[in-house]
Amino acid sequence: MSRSMRIKGPSRIRGELSIPGDKSISHRVALLASIAEGASRITGFSSSADCQATLDCIKRLGIKVEQGASELIVHGNGLFGFAPGSNPVLLQAGNSGTTIRMLSGLLAAQQFESEVDGDASLRTRPMARIIEPLTLMGAQIDAANGSRAPLHIQGRKLKGISYASPVASAQVKSCVLMAGLLADGSTSFSEPTLSRNHTELMLNEFGARVERDAVNAWSVEGGAKLSPVNYKVPGDVSSAAFFIAAAVALRDSSVVLRGVGLNPTRTAFLDVLSSLGANIARCNLDKRHGEAAGDICASTSELRAESGKMTLSGGVIANLIDEIPILAVLATQVEGTIEVRDARELRIKESDRIRTLVNGIRSMSGEIEEFEDGFGISGPQKLTGARVESAGDHRIAMAFAVAGLLAEGSTEILDADCAAVSFPSFYEALASMAGPGVVEGPSL
Ligand code: S3P
Repeated sequence: MSRSMRIKGPSRIRGELSIPGDKSISHRVALLASIAEGASRITGFSSSADCQATLDCIKRLGIKVEQGASELIVHGNGLFGFAPGSNPVLLQAGNSGTTIRMLSGLLAAQQFESEVDGDASLRTRPMARIIEPLTLMGAQIDAANGSRAPLHIQGRKLKGISYASPVASAQVKSCVLMAGLLADGSTSFSEPTLSRNHTELMLNEFGARVERDAVNAWSVEGGAKLSPVNYKVPGDVSSAAFFIAAAVALRDSSVVLRGVGLNPTRTAFLDVLSSLGANIARCNLDKRHGEAAGDICASTSELRAESGKMTLSGGVIANLIDEIPILAVLATQVEGTIEVRDARELRIKESDRIRTLVNGIRSMSGEIEEFEDGFGISGPQKLTGARVESAGDHRIAMAFAVAGLLAEGSTEILDADCAAVSFPSFYEALASMAGPGVVEGPSL
């Protein structure tokens, strides 16, 4: 059942929060651990529904997974050690593009048939971007309407390729590099601009033979055995972004967010906010497994676009992509104009995020200009409480929950439960920081 949440504004937030484990890193560590030789021990694994989908898939592939309260143990069986209970094996990726795209890279090289499906949203998302390189490697994949889930994968022996991706997508990159691990020879991958680099860093941790050929290009040798790891997953900066945005835009607010991943391919949002004049500090910095992490302090700020306008376009978009929904909400509170361009990818995320943002902001009496590849917002604007459609998109639901704190009156987020796709405890955390009576709904 999909339930709604009510948020009263204008409010403030205060307090401290340990940010739950990074979703992107959790998917990767589970998948690579499943093809390593032996038991990997993982702490801080994401509690998201998306990462649970990845775990459920590897379990169906015969991988033993022990899920304790604070530790996950994945008993890897080697590169070709999956032992599915049926042929074809039916796998469910739910809402998770990362699961279906990365897992397909591993399945394409196995000696059995599989079918990977997803929910209604995932079934609309483009899969040609992985089918094309995998087919060049020798894979056989049949898809609904040519390029949508469900994907029917007939495992084959793969050969390494050199692939220049037309899109900067970490999911595509990870899919090709993971398939490359199982292929004969070496596989190289390049992309137009650097997307998040967790897979490359993690391949090193597992002892794969991976090399950086250029800023945006990597290659991996096929056939090398992976060693199991002890891995600590940092907090998800994309989840932290909602609290950072709320703290800097609301009156009388301040938050301390603990243990947040600060990989530079993920922190463009923090840099954008700093250049708008936000009070944000990073401290207690640490680095593990090649991934930077630390605490973030953020507090009420005067936000202003220098010389009246900030345009975000080009290479920065890939490093900001998941934070654009909350950035749009924040832009309504900034003095000056913020324009986002070159962000067509937003239209093919869990929802058409350009459309759902435009609808949501307008329903709260905000003004936003829609472009085919982005939007423009001039602020500061007064938002008013309204009923807002999340369109079943977790980041839209959470972004508009923050908008509800900024707005005058009461905001209702419809189908609010979808936040669990990345952040199951989001509303509890927001409620505890906003104080009694501000965030209300059936799950609290
Ligand atoms: C992700 C990559 C991005 C991002 C998604 C997670 C990943 O997608 O939007 O939420 O974990 O690799 P694309 O690869 O489609 O850009």
